[in-house]
Order: sequence, then C-alpha cells, then structure tokens
Amino acid sequence: MDKRIAIVTGGVAGIGRAITLALAEEGYLVVACDVNAERGQALAAERPGQVAFQRCNVAEESDVQRVVRETYATYERIDALVNNAGIIRRRTSEEIKTADWDAVFAVNVRGAFLFCKHVADVMKRQRRGKIVNVSSIAGKLGDITSAPGYGPSKAALDALTKTFAREMAPYGVIVNGVAPHAIATEMSAEWSEEKRKSIVEAIPLKRLGKPEEVAAVVRFLLSPGADFITGEIIDVNGGFLMD
Ligand SMILES: NC(=O)c1ccc[n+]([C@@H]2O[C@H](COP(=O)([O-])OP(=O)(O)OC[C@H]3O[C@@H](n4cnc5c(N)ncnc54)[C@H](O)[C@@H]3O)[C@@H](O)[C@H]2O)c1
Repeated sequence: MDKRIAIVTGGVAGIGRAITLALAEEGYLVVACDVNAERGQALAAERPGQVAFQRCNVAEESDVQRVVRETYATYERIDALVNNAGIIRRRTSEEIKTADWDAVFAVNVRGAFLFCKHVADVMKRQRRGKIVNVSSIAGKLGDITSAPGYGPSKAALDALTKTFAREMAPYGVIVNGVAPHAIATEMSAEWSEEKRKSIVEAIPLKRLGKPEEVAAVVRFLLSPGADFITGEIIDVNGGFLMD
C-alpha cells in the first residue's frame, strides 16, 4: 500500500480530531482510536478512505494489541503513531480518590506505553517510523489546574518519550512530544469563566490556543523536516512558559 498509515489515539475529539484531520490532509490513512464509538464512526463516515475508526481503550492491553495487529494486517505498515488520548480529574490532593488518580495514570501513561511498545515492535522491523506523544505544560510545571494526578502523569509521559527515543534511535525510529497549554477543547471547557480569564491573562499572546495549532506541530514532527529531532518535547503555549 502506497498510502502512509498513522494511528492517532483519542483521535475523534478536540486536539486528537484536529491531528486526525491534519494527517488525513497530509495524505495519511489515519486509524483513529477512541472509546467514543459514536463520534469515531461519524468521523470515519465523513472521511471515507482517509479515516478508519477503531474502538479502543488505550489502557487495555488487549485493545491496543488488537488495533496494532489489525492495522498492520490490513495495511502492512505503520508509519506514525500519535499518543494523544488523555484524561484529567480535577480535585485537590485531599479530595481525589485513589481510583481516579490511578485512572489518570492508566490512560495518560500506561496507554501511551502500551501503544509505544506494540507499535515500536512493528517500526523496529520496518526500521522506520515516528511517534509523537501529546503531553502538557503540566508535565514540566506540575499541575496548575488542581489535578494532582495529571501533572505527574504528563511528567512520566515526557520521561517515556525520552526513554523510547533512546531505545528506538538505533532502529531509525524517532520519538518526540508536544506540550500544549490552554487549548480550546472540551477538556478546557470545564474551566469557570473566571479561571479561563486568569489563564488567558497569564499567556503573553492573550488567547487560548486552537487544536489545529497543536496538530500543525505534530504534523511537522512527523515530516522529513524533523528527521534530526528525537527525544524533544515542543511547547505550544502562547509564550506562557519559555524554557
Ligand atoms: N485542552 C488543553 O488545554 C490541553 C492542554 C495540554 C495538554 N492537553 C492534552 O491533549 C490531549 C487531548 O486533549 P483534549 O483537550 O483534546 O481532550 P478531549 O477531552 O477534548 O479529547 C480527548 C479524547 O480522548 C478520548 N479518550 C479518553 N480516554 C480514552 C481512552 N481510555 N482510550 C481512548 N480514547 C480515550 C476521548 O474520548 C476524546 O475523544 C490530552 O492528552 C491532554 O492531556 C490538552
């Protein structure tokens, strides 16, 4: 098959949907994986031949193995993986239930690990492939929106990105991350108006980011122009953190 194949997790809403559409526009056949089957099927129906949908909970290894196995069996290649699926549980450390803290790690870290592990197997054999993990500014700063599992999970994801980047480099497989902040999606729609205002006020560019602006950076990291970048986590934050 001539078409390049990308797997995008959480690929049917918010940032993930924007990534799916950007890669489809780039000429990829995108396998969008998500727990939301209704949205997934609607997106695949909107983009026949460009987007295929797989129902998948990234925290379940059997789901991840099935997606990777079926994708490879169907298309005989996997060129790109974007680990975008992520959840947040907004509670103070005092209030958060241990099960909720665990759930955040299960999706944000274990999910990305499982997809990296099983896709890397294919990419190692191909001796080529690119992975992008969608992290967050909270991985660098600790969480700033009262979600005590979220920041630590994204810090772990950043360490996972660097670990896989080193491990996969000898096989020609490139692994990077993006660290967005304050992007207008359903996740950020949970903020109160007051909180949204104070977040925007602290951003030098004085606005929220758009999902398409994260997708553009992912698209760049998957392009040949980024062939000498690996283990990097690129900020997409309107200048809020300049490191
Ligand atoms: N929105 C922001 O401001 C922001 C900032 C920094 C980082 N991020 C990160 O960007 C990514 C996307 O965020 P978003 O704002 O688009 O979120 P969103 O909630 O709008 O969309 C997330 C998508 O992931 C899917 N999903 C959730 N759990 C899943 C699971 N277990 N398996 C498969 N799919 C699952 C959801 O169904 C949904 O389609 C996340 O990793 C998030 O942490 C977002």
